[in-house]
Amino acid sequence: MEIIIQSDSKEGDKVAARMIAGLIRRKPDAVLGLATGSTPLGLYRELVRMHREEGLDFSGVTSFNLDEYIGLATDHPQSYHRFMFENLFNHINMATDRIHVPDGMTADVPAFCADYEQSIRAAGGIDLQVLGIGTDGHVGFNEPSSSLASRTRIKTLTQQTLSDNARHFADPSGQPHHVITMGIGTIMESRQVVMLAFGANKADAVARSVEGPVCAMMPASVLQFHPRAHVILDDASAARLSKADYYRWVYDNKPAWQQH
Ligand code: PGA
Repeated sequence: MEIIIQSDSKEGDKVAARMIAGLIRRKPDAVLGLATGSTPLGLYRELVRMHREEGLDFSGVTSFNLDEYIGLATDHPQSYHRFMFENLFNHINMATDRIHVPDGMTADVPAFCADYEQSIRAAGGIDLQVLGIGTDGHVGFNEPSSSLASRTRIKTLTQQTLSDNARHFADPSGQPHHVITMGIGTIMESRQVVMLAFGANKADAVARSVEGPVCAMMPASVLQFHPRAHVILDDASAARLSKADYYRWVYDNKPAWQQH
């Protein structure tokens, strides 16, 4: 894992955006795996800025989102479909038919999930997957105890995730408990992973994922097995890492050819 600690989330967003922009410039038909939640908002703002000001061209890019709430229609204010259009897709030049967000209204969840996996394979696999991390260590909505080999499927949210996300729902009775999420096995097949975590409330999950044992009870820890995983942190989310000084030194002394 490459642990990149920046002074604040804005600097972290820029590092992640440079990685994505570099990939798109090298490979204009790149396949991105995208995440929702408050964490990637700054990254998406930076990508929109790069599109507007630097001509970053998304016209050949394909995307697959990690997850969606079951029971929320695409235009529901809290659906991840709507989140992605409002925060990214409406502001860049991606072709709508290359955008994939799981369908929370599907009548046949297992069949939809199998199709989603097939679509990822048909697109050539994910080149770069963006991830956040839950305070309970989830990636996508793969909650603790998720199989580390899991594929896209239905999951039930933990109480901790429900209360972390309750702020988005004016009426708590309208907050879905069930989701469709890419599996951990699906995520692990992406060629590159960029996990972002900002703020003190993520420090414990970050320390356990980066420096703790690989364990289904801390799903993000599986990234220790990924050959190309970057973890982008701010000072607050890195506060409980025992080797933070080493990670900072490594990043500050990267050979020029290896810099992002
Ligand atoms: P957050 O959620 O970005 O809103 O903190 C992260 C996650 O649940 O993966």
